[in-house]
Amino acid sequence: MKNVLVLNGPNLSRLGTREPDVYGAQTFDDLAHLCRETGRELGLHVDVRQTDDEAELVHWLHEAADGRTPVVLNPAAFTHYSYALRDAIAQKTAPLIEVHISNPSAREEFRHTSVVSAVATGTIAGFGLQSYVLALRAIADTDG
Ligand code: DQA
Repeated sequence: MKNVLVLNGPNLSRLGTREPDVYGAQTFDDLAHLCRETGRELGLHVDVRQTDDEAELVHWLHEAADGRTPVVLNPAAFTHYSYALRDAIAQKTAPLIEVHISNPSAREEFRHTSVVSAVATGTIAGFGLQSYVLALRAIADTDG
């Protein structure tokens, strides 16, 4: 069974209470459950993680690169400024899909820049938690 890491950056543990008008009413546990269930349907083993710590996220990306493990990554605010994350993603050895719950391009100016998009395999944004489902489907349909 193909292993997939679903990695989430800062403040995403706060889903459900955090700006529900932007991110919806579902919690991080709901998101983790949705990803694991989607994985089960697609024949993927999905490991869902969240951290507020940039270093921890970088280390998880190293782990994925060493294991040739595909990644669904919501870098959250790191999207917009973390060159450390970008450099870690650039080392990927399997597909890595950048996802966002909201559509950052339709929001404040500072969210229009992603320093990670250019080194991701692709980006899915603006579909709520379904962004993750679409990314998992893309990974299931992709070799490697
Ligand atoms: C986000 C969008 C980012 O701009 C923001 O900092 C987040 C969440 C999203 O999923 O829509 O924390 O990545």
